[in-house]
Amino acid sequence: MPWAMELLDDQRSARGLAAAIGRAIRSGALAEGDRLPPVREIAAQLAVSPTTVSDAWKELAASGAIVTRGRNGTFVRNADPVRAARRYHRVPAPPGALPIDLSHGTPDPALLPDLGWALGKAARQLADAPRTSAYADDPVDPELDAILRERWPYRPDSLTVVDGAMDALDRILCSQIRLGDRVVVENPTFPPLLDLLDVLGAEATPVGVDHQGPLPDELAAALALGSVRAVVLQPRAHNPTGASITPERLRRLVEVLAGHPDVLVVEDDHSGDIASSDVVSLGTVLPDRVVTVLGFSKSHGPDLRLAAIGGAAPVIDGVASRRLIGPGWSSRLLQAALVHLLTGRAAQRSVERARQRYARRRADLTDALSTRGLELPEGDGFNLWVPVGDESNALVALAARGIAVAPGTPFQCDRSAPHIRVTIATLDHDVSLVADAVAAAAERAPARRSV
Ligand SMILES: Cc1ncc(COP(=O)(O)O)c(C=O)c1O
Repeated sequence: MPWAMELLDDQRSARGLAAAIGRAIRSGALAEGDRLPPVREIAAQLAVSPTTVSDAWKELAASGAIVTRGRNGTFVRNADPVRAARRYHRVPAPPGALPIDLSHGTPDPALLPDLGWALGKAARQLADAPRTSAYADDPVDPELDAILRERWPYRPDSLTVVDGAMDALDRILCSQIRLGDRVVVENPTFPPLLDLLDVLGAEATPVGVDHQGPLPDELAAALALGSVRAVVLQPRAHNPTGASITPERLRRLVEVLAGHPDVLVVEDDHSGDIASSDVVSLGTVLPDRVVTVLGFSKSHGPDLRLAAIGGAAPVIDGVASRRLIGPGWSSRLLQAALVHLLTGRAAQRSVERARQRYARRRADLTDALSTRGLELPEGDGFNLWVPVGDESNALVALAARGIAVAPGTPFQCDRSAPHIRVTIATLDHDVSLVADAVAAAAERAPARRSV
């Protein structure tokens, strides 16, 4: 390790070691993909404690400079921020590339409630009575706080508001996950979650999903591996499969989690009010170690950029406190607008109508696929997870008919059976054309055990 000895000089602190390795990466002495020696080996060579080395590794992983791949070791990674979202970048088709774009999961603009009305009301209200008196004010608008607590599936110890469901996952996981931790995720899952775990140097530990949610036996096996710090799951309208956790499955998952009291559960209810399934939450049984994310992007607009997080106080308060040395709070103007959208009758009707329309669009496409011999399990939300014979062939065949869909690979933790994700959010016309093309692309799909 000449790079470390040379660059470390006489610094023996974790920070000094992290900085030395950071400089070695920048200078090219350590290249992307290089494997770092084991912690004990470095500690012995530098005559520092293994704790110092692993603290340095934590800092480097948090900054994205290195990544741990389980027992394979710790590697230098390209911390280029553009490449951080490497899976996510592969999901949406370039805007306007094809006439029918079913590749991205944003809501249909025609089905959103009237944001202009809500913003106008909120702006007048804040002009009359400014809501921010000090930077350290409570980050949550009091009216919004009351509404959220009223509708929360359990009594949250603590609650805050952040800039969307992905911001919530980012803040929760950054505050809880350390280099080398295992985080159990559904397989398949939302690609940016896998990208985020890579950046944190955590090991995504996959658990399969069927139409009732995560598989309890696979969860038990994943937890038995040890070093699991958190489980991240989507309670309903799972992206990409559409699965929602049933009460019976919830009971089984609770039984499994009961044996692992230190594991945090993060529930990502990203679809919120456009989901048709009932809310089920592990927080009703394990309130001390569940945090639930409730998103408003799909129901009230992605540009509101708001989501709420409620549940275990140490986690939520940690997020709020860390945020004080960043943006501090989510715009109170937008929070006030959300209050109007959640309480105004016309806005409520509009969200309800959207929920029904999405359910209809989903049913129309699954029915049309079924008449073409492709049966998909029942589901909820925007996405259909369609088994195909070959992912690339399916994407090309669909593109040739003017249809963009998302490749399945970025959603998968392993090279499981090939899939595509078809989003119905904007699929109003063209159902027969899309069903013909998707059914043809899926024709040679192998038989599957789960969704
Ligand atoms: C599972 C999941 N989590 C989080 C998000 C991000 O939601 P938001 O727009 O609120 O950040 C999405 C968006 O599609 C999602 O599918």
